[in-house]
Amino acid sequence: MQTYLHGRDMIGDLDFSKEEVETVMDVAFDLKRKRALNEPHPYLRDKVLAMLFFFSSTRTRGSFEAGMAQLGGHAAFIESKTTQIAHGDTPKEIGEIFGRYYDGIAIRHCDWGLGNRYINDVAKYSRTPILNMQCDIYHPFQCLADLMTIWEKKGRDLRRRKMVVSWAYAESYSKPISVPQSLILQMPRFGMDVVLAHPPEFRLMPEIMDMAKDEAKKAGVGFDVVEDMGEGFKDADIVYAKSWGPLVHTSDAKEGEAITKKYANWITDEKKMKLAKEDAIYMHPLPADRNVEVTDGILDGAQSVVYDEAENRLHAQKAVMALTM
Ligand code: CP
Repeated sequence: MQTYLHGRDMIGDLDFSKEEVETVMDVAFDLKRKRALNEPHPYLRDKVLAMLFFFSSTRTRGSFEAGMAQLGGHAAFIESKTTQIAHGDTPKEIGEIFGRYYDGIAIRHCDWGLGNRYINDVAKYSRTPILNMQCDIYHPFQCLADLMTIWEKKGRDLRRRKMVVSWAYAESYSKPISVPQSLILQMPRFGMDVVLAHPPEFRLMPEIMDMAKDEAKKAGVGFDVVEDMGEGFKDADIVYAKSWGPLVHTSDAKEGEAITKKYANWITDEKKMKLAKEDAIYMHPLPADRNVEVTDGILDGAQSVVYDEAENRLHAQKAVMALTM
């Protein structure tokens, strides 16, 4: 069990080794149990986390903020537009200055081509841990909550379990590609055969695909790509279907919209879920476009684990904060 994580950043999914992620899971389950029993666990008393948001959030903000309070500390909610970032504060100022005020800096910056670079630039200058609350490339805390949920529903021995990570149609906005990228990097390490399903224009970053193939090879599991949602769902144990933008294909918003419209039939509905195993679970990080991306029947149905998944954000994040801050 690797426990020396104090001072570490979590920016990408592979920043922590598999053994270190197992430590996070162990602590997360313990914290979940403690909360259920009303057992105080003030591991971060007097510590303060800065939460710097360049993008909106429901779950991430709520769970980090509640998590810090439950650990005996405090989280400061800071929207980038209320800071002096637009007037000249660079990542160096944020890292140097916030690093001296706060015991950790959590950042959400999802702008394509900018977010991950910004977070890494702040990390260069910060003396305290940097936690990635989602960037254009990774959403590591979502992925930890997902792993925790899969362990709860399917057990820890995930060998020969098929997980499909599928693109789905949505109209609300061009969603980041960070969730599917995090999933294809982390899940093979835990024994799942991962199938990535998407229309051709929704491919992920080539360097992330190469890293995912390497992880699957090292773990001795399958990693396949298909261009048909139904084929992806076939015999799956875990269905994780969500929308993302055609960002790798085009940076033109109008072209992206036109491409997306071609695939309105990529919805998770009762017919497609029937292709998966009878006891398959349905996962989504939320927010979802109801009855566009997924039907109400599936999202609110017996196979859906989306609320447990959202809850586990709290426990997984508390574990990482308690271990690193
Ligand atoms: N899943 C997730 O990150 O949700 P929010 O965007 O609401 O934080």
